[in-house]
Amino acid sequence: MQHPYRHRIRAICAEDLDAVLDVQAACYPPAMQEAAEVVLARLHAAAGTCIAAEDEAGVCAYLFAYPSMLGKVTPLGAGFEVAAGADTLYLHDLAVAPRALGRGLARRLVDHLLAQAPARRWQASALVSVQDTARFWSALGYRPGDPDHPDAGAALASYPGGAQYMVRRLTAPAVPWPSC
Ligand SMILES: CC(C)(COP(=O)(O)OP(=O)(O)OC[C@H]1O[C@@H](n2cnc3c(N)ncnc32)[C@H](O)[C@@H]1OP(=O)(O)O)[C@@H](O)C(=O)NCCC(=O)NCCS
Repeated sequence: MQHPYRHRIRAICAEDLDAVLDVQAACYPPAMQEAAEVVLARLHAAAGTCIAAEDEAGVCAYLFAYPSMLGKVTPLGAGFEVAAGADTLYLHDLAVAPRALGRGLARRLVDHLLAQAPARRWQASALVSVQDTARFWSALGYRPGDPDHPDAGAALASYPGGAQYMVRRLTAPAVPWPSC
């Protein structure tokens, strides 16, 4: 069945940088805008997990993610440290331009990357919810989690407002996770 909002999902390339920054500017307040060099470096570090949705006017949504370890948090404005033997897909930035909101694009972008999980052996997906998006992430199967990495507290504190670490299990854990 054709999706009602005409778009295609594809990898982000360096030429998309301005369009991505336009979406970022429309979706975040100044205190949360991340620098062009950082965005570009993330693309180079994790090209296989940075994707965009494109409609007739161009890039209308994006998702920057990278293979990481459960419990680790990326500070605002930091680069992606892709983990060898990653167990988690960390979603760092998901944004949908105002013209494309509420059409299911955010869910489709997340599903698109999570489809790689069995082949990549990711056991979980994690993120920091900002801008009051916890209910949105709950709708996508994420639950509040306890980031246990030593730097996680400082990383969470780099976000303005009530930032919340959230986790979605992708496989049944051998040992129950007490915190999520
Ligand atoms: C959050 C955001 C990505 C959602 O994008 P979207 O394209 O409107 O989301 P979708 O249409 O794919 O919605 C997916 C589901 O979440 C629900 N949802 C969307 N926004 C929601 C919200 N604010 N609260 C609760 N549920 C929400 C939808 O109803 C939908 O549920 P359904 O599939 O069961 O019908 C978008 O609002 C955005 O870009 N916000 C600004 C940037 C931002 O804060 N990103 C998150 C950083 S952690």
